[in-house]
Amino acid sequence: MLADQLLNDGRIRSREIAEAFREVPRHLFVPGAGPARAYADEAIGVKWAADGRPVSSSSQPSIMAIMLEQLRLRPGLHVLEIGTGTGYNAALLAHLVGRTGAVATVDIDEELAGTARQRLTAAGYSSVVVAAGDGAAGWPGEAPYDRIVVTASARDLAPAWTGQLGDGGRLLVPLSLRGIKHSVAFRQAGDHLASVSVVPCDFMPLTGELAAGDPVRPLGRLPGMSLSVEGHSEFDLATLRAALKQQGQPLPTGVTITPSYPYTGLGLWLALHDPGVGELTAIGPAAGLSPVPAIVTHIPGRASTTVLTSETSLAAIARPPGAEQATAFECCVRGYGPDGDRLAERLAAAVRAWDSAGRPAGSTLRIRAYPAGAGDHPRAAFTITMPHTRFLLDW
Ligand SMILES: C[S@@+](CC[C@H](N)C(=O)[O-])C[C@H]1O[C@@H](n2cnc3c(N)ncnc32)[C@H](O)[C@@H]1O
Repeated sequence: MLADQLLNDGRIRSREIAEAFREVPRHLFVPGAGPARAYADEAIGVKWAADGRPVSSSSQPSIMAIMLEQLRLRPGLHVLEIGTGTGYNAALLAHLVGRTGAVATVDIDEELAGTARQRLTAAGYSSVVVAAGDGAAGWPGEAPYDRIVVTASARDLAPAWTGQLGDGGRLLVPLSLRGIKHSVAFRQAGDHLASVSVVPCDFMPLTGELAAGDPVRPLGRLPGMSLSVEGHSEFDLATLRAALKQQGQPLPTGVTITPSYPYTGLGLWLALHDPGVGELTAIGPAAGLSPVPAIVTHIPGRASTTVLTSETSLAAIARPPGAEQATAFECCVRGYGPDGDRLAERLAAAVRAWDSAGRPAGSTLRIRAYPAGAGDHPRAAFTITMPHTRFLLDW
């Protein structure tokens, strides 16, 4: 049973959420997957773009459970979900807030919204309001909300979300800070939002208005290879593509990591300390045929590694030779291109600094979110300013 597995794994902590997973039939929302996959702890893709990028999926149940716990739901609450997808999470939300509560859900993809509406009705959740539109505008029709939950990653917070949140409400967003994603629950704290729970996660990005300035750039001849550097994106892709053919020796760091290192706090540490840090990703067919031997993280259909870029060169987190299948290994850094060795030294020093600082985890980060335009802000260890929001970050 999926609910028992999520309880055993510690993803579900409350009886109500276990019951929601037992009661809501996921197979009705992912009919193409078959019953075994529908009740496995797996994300299930339901729509893809021409280049193989997923457009929509039913998220992995373990992260859905974690996020439902972060939301602190109870009967009678009024909830808005941004990113309807299959409608399964909306059904879980509707189950948890009960007949006295209300759920509205918005998807930017009209076809997905239509299918989800039919499936929610078939599963007995016809009271859920399903709308098609850009969730950056929230859904004013049913506002204010006690909870707003976004189920695609966002680099910025839409002003409509804070505007439509009722007093004492909670906003839950898979927040991408320089490309590193954490599910962040925010509560209102006077003139800003303050994080109350931060959990590493991986989500496909929001499209629409909030995707403006998306730093992901295609790289290489294979569709699916891309480079994303939030801090500066004005590099010459042809030069960097050529640099990938000039691979330096692996530089050992003395720090042991696992393939999921970006979620241990190391990814966030590297991204916050150097604006040149980003991610090199291969998805779809490119993940299997990738010309980049440095790639570390590999989940089915997607391979990626952390890179430090300059105008002509890059350095990448890599496995040491012979550790291609290892589940824990010494973090190495490889340089590519004329400036690759210098960049590799810089990236290796940052990895060692994270280790020496006691390997701080992303979950211990404190995040405050202020409207970007609003006067002076308090001081913080790191500041990231996006068009709508200034994020103040302290470890
Ligand atoms: C990971 S899926 C959501 C999974 C969903 N909650 C479920 O239970 O199946 C992300 C969804 O966000 C939608 N999306 C992306 N950008 C959006 C936007 N700006 N506004 C609303 N929905 C958006 C996508 O179309 C996709 O269906």
